Amino acid sequence: ELEGQERVFQERIDAGVKIEPKDWMPEGYRKTLVRQISQHAHSEIVGQLPEGNWITRAPTLKRKAILLAKVQDEAGHGLYLYSAAETLGVSRDALIAQLHAGKAKYSSIFNYPTLTWADIGAIGWLVDGSAIINQIPLCRCSYGPYARAMVRVCKEESFHQRQGYDLLLALCNGTPEQKAMAQDALNRWWWPALMMFGPSDADSVNSAQSTQWGIKLFSNDALRQKMVDQTVPQAEYLGLTIPDPDLKWNEERGHYDFGAIDWDEFFNVIKGNGPCNRERLATRVQAYEDGEWFREGLNAHADKQAARGAA
Ligand code: 3HC
Repeated sequence: ELEGQERVFQERIDAGVKIEPKDWMPEGYRKTLVRQISQHAHSEIVGQLPEGNWITRAPTLKRKAILLAKVQDEAGHGLYLYSAAETLGVSRDALIAQLHAGKAKYSSIFNYPTLTWADIGAIGWLVDGSAIINQIPLCRCSYGPYARAMVRVCKEESFHQRQGYDLLLALCNGTPEQKAMAQDALNRWWWPALMMFGPSDADSVNSAQSTQWGIKLFSNDALRQKMVDQTVPQAEYLGLTIPDPDLKWNEERGHYDFGAIDWDEFFNVIKGNGPCNRERLATRVQAYEDGEWFREGLNAHADKQAARGAA
């Protein structure tokens, strides 16, 4: 019987039918979606911290307003994604408790420090640039609530990327010191941005199953290659040098060949030993504890409303 249900389920996936919360689904499908969507949501929430560091230090009111809007968007993306995860029968509190206990991952990229204003440009250009390349296919993934959340998120991400690139263009057209600051940021964010796409396909434990279930539409390496191909001309336009001596256009492949990624660094960061992992988690735990009184007030008010309604 279960075999029959699994077969019917796979036929729906293969036919491009969206799976909705009330539909029957293999337990593994539900579990891998809770894993990926919750970690995606954690990434959005933690991702506010590196950028938040520069809201009070932005060089002009215009840049401050743009950065405020972007960080606010990231918070919204996180809440949107926690809601998508909740359709799979998990509670937001449980997911957040997993994050705070160091049991859930979030994108490795947010464990790096933002040392200068140019980092804010590099994050918009490279981190949101990578996020867009990864998230566009997710708009067509098999799980309805996740796909629909991604459509809204991707619209806002394109603004995030453009403002980052615009910021770097201003620096590259500025003084030599400003251009050097932009080059320094590219040097530090280039390789971690490529690691965002996950391990190489050969080392990707979830890819085969996620591909069969229509969750992953393109492999980690395919999307990483797309990011490199798209970004090299943009760096050239800025007059910046990508920190990879092996980067070279390969006419035969129609893609850029590029150097080896330091996978020790990647696995070290996702194990919790990146430059900022402890600081990021401590900040999130502190924020959650500081907000306890507010959540209690909201619940007390809701209970009173409910009691009044029942009376
Ligand atoms: N950071 C942290 N962990 C990562 C990672 C990264 N960059 N890349 C892979 N991993 C983890 C995976 O979660 C998995 O561990 P798990 O089984 O405990 O979850 C392990 O490494 C092996 O990787 P796989 O390739 O087998 O895992 P996936 O099939 O899940 O692929 C992924 C990884 C491509 C990141 C996929 O999970 C995905 O597409 N997630 C949704 C997109 C996402 O999370 N993006 C975050 C970008 S940042 C962001 O969105 C904010 C932006 O708006 C600024």
